[in-house]
Amino acid sequence: MPLELPSLPYAKDALAPVISEHSLRMHHEGIHAGYLQRLNALLESDGPNERSLEHIMGTGRGEAQACACQAWNHTFFWQCLTPWYHPPGQALEHALTQRWGSLEGFQEAFMASAMAHFMGGWTWLVYTPQGRLDIHNAVDAGSPLLKGLTPLLAVDMWEHAWYVDFGNNRRKYLQKLWGMINWPFVEQCLEDAIATAEGRRNLLHA
Ligand SMILES: [Fe+2]
Repeated sequence: MPLELPSLPYAKDALAPVISEHSLRMHHEGIHAGYLQRLNALLESDGPNERSLEHIMGTGRGEAQACACQAWNHTFFWQCLTPWYHPPGQALEHALTQRWGSLEGFQEAFMASAMAHFMGGWTWLVYTPQGRLDIHNAVDAGSPLLKGLTPLLAVDMWEHAWYVDFGNNRRKYLQKLWGMINWPFVEQCLEDAIATAEGRRNLLHA
Protein backbone atom coordinates (compact mmCIF):
# COMPACT_ATOMS: atom_id res chain seq x y z
CA MET A 1 0.00 0.00 0.00
CA PRO A 2 1.42 3.40 -0.89
CA LEU A 3 1.80 5.99 1.84
CA GLU A 4 -1.13 8.38 1.73
CA LEU A 5 -1.35 12.12 2.23
CA PRO A 6 -3.08 12.81 5.58
CA SER A 7 -5.93 15.32 5.52
CA LEU A 8 -5.42 18.72 7.10
CA PRO A 9 -7.04 19.07 10.55
CA TYR A 10 -8.95 22.15 9.26
CA ALA A 11 -10.35 23.51 6.02
CA LYS A 12 -7.96 24.86 3.39
CA ASP A 13 -9.26 28.40 3.92
CA ALA A 14 -9.36 28.17 7.75
CA LEU A 15 -6.01 29.90 8.33
CA ALA A 16 -6.75 32.83 6.00
CA PRO A 17 -5.95 35.63 5.80
CA VAL A 18 -2.58 34.80 7.44
CA ILE A 19 -2.08 31.71 5.29
CA SER A 20 -4.25 31.99 2.22
CA GLU A 21 -6.25 29.09 0.80
CA HIS A 22 -4.08 29.19 -2.31
CA SER A 23 -0.88 28.99 -0.29
CA LEU A 24 -2.14 26.19 1.99
CA ARG A 25 -3.49 24.18 -0.95
CA MET A 26 -0.17 24.50 -2.79
CA HIS A 27 1.76 23.57 0.35
CA HIS A 28 -0.40 20.56 1.27
CA GLU A 29 -1.44 19.18 -2.12
CA GLY A 30 1.73 20.19 -3.94
CA ILE A 31 4.73 20.20 -1.62
CA HIS A 32 3.64 17.75 1.11
CA ALA A 33 1.98 15.38 -1.35
CA GLY A 34 5.03 15.63 -3.62
CA TYR A 35 7.32 14.20 -0.93
CA LEU A 36 4.99 11.23 -0.47
CA GLN A 37 4.69 10.65 -4.22
CA ARG A 38 8.46 10.67 -4.56
CA LEU A 39 8.85 8.38 -1.55
CA ASN A 40 6.25 5.94 -2.89
CA ALA A 41 8.09 5.86 -6.21
CA LEU A 42 11.37 5.13 -4.43
CA LEU A 43 9.76 2.36 -2.37
CA GLU A 44 7.94 0.76 -5.29
CA SER A 45 10.65 -1.78 -5.98
CA ASP A 46 11.14 -2.68 -2.31
CA GLY A 47 8.25 -5.13 -1.92
CA PRO A 48 6.09 -5.46 1.20
CA ASN A 49 8.53 -4.01 3.70
CA GLU A 50 7.81 -1.96 6.81
CA ARG A 51 6.66 1.37 5.40
CA SER A 52 5.89 3.70 8.29
CA LEU A 53 7.46 7.12 7.90
CA GLU A 54 9.21 6.74 11.27
CA HIS A 55 10.77 3.46 10.17
CA ILE A 56 12.03 4.96 6.91
CA MET A 57 13.31 8.03 8.79
CA GLY A 58 15.24 5.82 11.18
CA THR A 59 16.61 3.27 8.74
CA GLY A 60 16.44 4.86 5.29
CA ARG A 61 19.17 6.77 3.55
CA GLY A 62 19.49 9.57 1.03
CA GLU A 63 16.42 10.76 -0.81
CA ALA A 64 14.02 8.22 0.75
CA GLN A 65 14.97 9.33 4.25
CA ALA A 66 14.74 13.02 3.30
CA CYS A 67 11.28 12.56 1.74
CA ALA A 68 10.07 10.61 4.80
CA CYS A 69 11.34 13.36 7.12
CA GLN A 70 9.68 16.07 5.04
CA ALA A 71 6.37 14.18 4.96
CA TRP A 72 6.49 13.61 8.74
CA ASN A 73 7.51 17.22 9.44
CA HIS A 74 4.65 18.63 7.40
CA THR A 75 2.05 16.39 9.08
CA PHE A 76 3.35 17.55 12.47
CA PHE A 77 3.45 21.20 11.37
CA TRP A 78 -0.22 21.16 10.29
CA GLN A 79 -1.15 20.02 13.78
CA CYS A 80 0.85 22.87 15.31
CA LEU A 81 -1.47 25.40 13.67
CA THR A 82 -5.14 26.03 14.37
CA PRO A 83 -7.88 28.47 13.44
CA TRP A 84 -9.33 27.93 16.95
CA TYR A 85 -6.72 29.70 19.05
CA HIS A 86 -6.34 29.12 22.79
CA PRO A 87 -3.44 30.62 24.74
CA PRO A 88 -0.94 28.23 26.36
CA GLY A 89 -2.23 26.43 29.43
CA GLN A 90 -0.78 27.10 32.86
CA ALA A 91 1.59 24.12 32.90
CA LEU A 92 3.03 24.90 29.47
CA GLU A 93 3.35 28.61 30.16
CA HIS A 94 5.12 27.78 33.43
CA ALA A 95 7.55 25.47 31.61
CA LEU A 96 8.29 28.08 28.92
CA THR A 97 8.66 30.83 31.52
CA GLN A 98 11.06 28.77 33.60
CA ARG A 99 13.27 28.24 30.56
CA TRP A 100 13.03 31.64 28.78
CA GLY A 101 11.76 34.03 31.44
CA SER A 102 8.35 34.57 29.87
CA LEU A 103 6.21 33.46 26.96
CA GLU A 104 7.42 36.53 25.08
CA GLY A 105 11.01 35.57 25.88
CA PHE A 106 10.42 32.14 24.35
CA GLN A 107 8.81 33.67 21.26
CA GLU A 108 11.75 36.05 20.78
CA ALA A 109 14.28 33.24 21.14
CA PHE A 110 12.30 31.02 18.78
CA MET A 111 12.03 33.77 16.17
CA ALA A 112 15.73 34.59 16.42
CA SER A 113 16.54 30.94 15.81
CA ALA A 114 14.07 30.71 12.91
CA MET A 115 15.42 33.90 11.32
CA ALA A 116 18.94 32.44 11.47
CA HIS A 117 18.09 29.88 8.77
CA PHE A 118 20.13 30.66 5.69
CA MET A 119 18.29 28.23 3.42
CA GLY A 120 15.29 25.94 3.89
CA GLY A 121 14.71 24.20 7.18
CA TRP A 122 12.60 23.85 10.30
CA THR A 123 12.59 25.43 13.73
CA TRP A 124 11.41 23.28 16.61
CA LEU A 125 10.55 23.48 20.26
CA VAL A 126 11.80 20.18 21.62
CA TYR A 127 12.03 18.17 24.82
CA THR A 128 15.55 16.88 25.35
CA PRO A 129 16.63 13.54 26.84
CA GLN A 130 17.90 15.62 29.81
CA GLY A 131 14.33 16.76 30.49
CA ARG A 132 14.78 20.33 29.23
CA LEU A 133 12.89 22.44 26.75
CA ASP A 134 15.06 23.67 23.91
CA ILE A 135 14.88 25.34 20.49
CA HIS A 136 16.36 23.33 17.65
CA ASN A 137 17.02 24.39 14.07
CA ALA A 138 17.04 21.58 11.52
CA VAL A 139 18.35 22.39 8.06
CA ASP A 140 16.80 20.99 4.90
CA ALA A 141 14.84 17.84 5.74
CA GLY A 142 16.22 17.48 9.26
CA SER A 143 14.20 15.91 12.05
CA PRO A 144 14.63 16.27 15.81
CA LEU A 145 13.65 12.59 16.08
CA LEU A 146 16.95 11.66 14.41
CA LYS A 147 18.78 13.63 17.14
CA GLY A 148 16.94 11.93 19.99
CA LEU A 149 14.83 15.05 20.63
CA THR A 150 11.06 14.98 21.09
CA PRO A 151 9.24 17.53 18.91
CA LEU A 152 6.69 19.76 20.61
CA LEU A 153 6.23 22.55 18.05
CA ALA A 154 7.41 22.94 14.46
CA VAL A 155 7.56 25.92 12.16
CA ASP A 156 8.27 25.40 8.48
CA MET A 157 11.02 27.81 7.45
CA TRP A 158 11.22 26.72 3.83
CA GLU A 159 10.56 29.55 1.41
CA HIS A 160 7.42 27.88 0.05
CA ALA A 161 5.83 28.29 3.51
CA TRP A 162 5.76 32.08 3.46
CA TYR A 163 6.70 33.44 0.06
CA VAL A 164 3.20 33.24 -1.48
CA ASP A 165 1.59 35.27 1.31
CA PHE A 166 4.46 37.37 2.67
CA GLY A 167 6.93 37.85 -0.17
CA ASN A 168 10.37 38.44 1.30
CA ASN A 169 9.01 39.22 4.75
CA ARG A 170 9.88 36.08 6.71
CA ARG A 171 9.64 37.93 10.02
CA LYS A 172 6.03 38.94 9.40
CA TYR A 173 5.16 35.30 8.64
CA LEU A 174 6.65 34.29 11.99
CA GLN A 175 4.94 37.10 13.87
CA LYS A 176 1.54 36.21 12.40
CA LEU A 177 1.95 32.53 13.20
CA TRP A 178 1.86 33.19 16.95
CA GLY A 179 -1.85 33.93 16.64
CA MET A 180 -2.46 30.47 15.17
CA ILE A 181 -0.29 28.19 17.29
CA ASN A 182 -2.14 25.14 18.57
CA TRP A 183 -0.92 25.40 22.16
CA PRO A 184 -3.14 22.56 23.47
CA PHE A 185 -1.39 20.26 20.95
CA VAL A 186 2.03 21.52 22.07
CA GLU A 187 1.07 20.94 25.71
CA GLN A 188 -0.16 17.42 24.95
CA CYS A 189 3.15 16.65 23.21
CA LEU A 190 5.01 17.90 26.29
CA GLU A 191 2.85 15.84 28.67
CA ASP A 192 3.45 12.75 26.52
CA ALA A 193 7.19 13.42 26.36
CA ILE A 194 7.41 13.78 30.16
CA ALA A 195 5.32 10.64 30.71
CA THR A 196 7.50 8.66 28.28
CA ALA A 197 10.69 9.89 29.96
CA GLU A 198 9.32 9.02 33.41
CA GLY A 199 8.25 5.60 32.17
CA ARG A 200 11.76 5.01 30.84
CA ARG A 201 13.31 6.12 34.14
CA ASN A 202 10.95 3.87 36.12
CA LEU A 203 11.86 0.96 33.88
CA LEU A 204 15.56 1.59 34.45
CA HIS A 205 15.11 1.73 38.23
CA ALA A 206 12.64 -1.14 38.55
FE1 LIG B 1 6.78 23.05 3.74
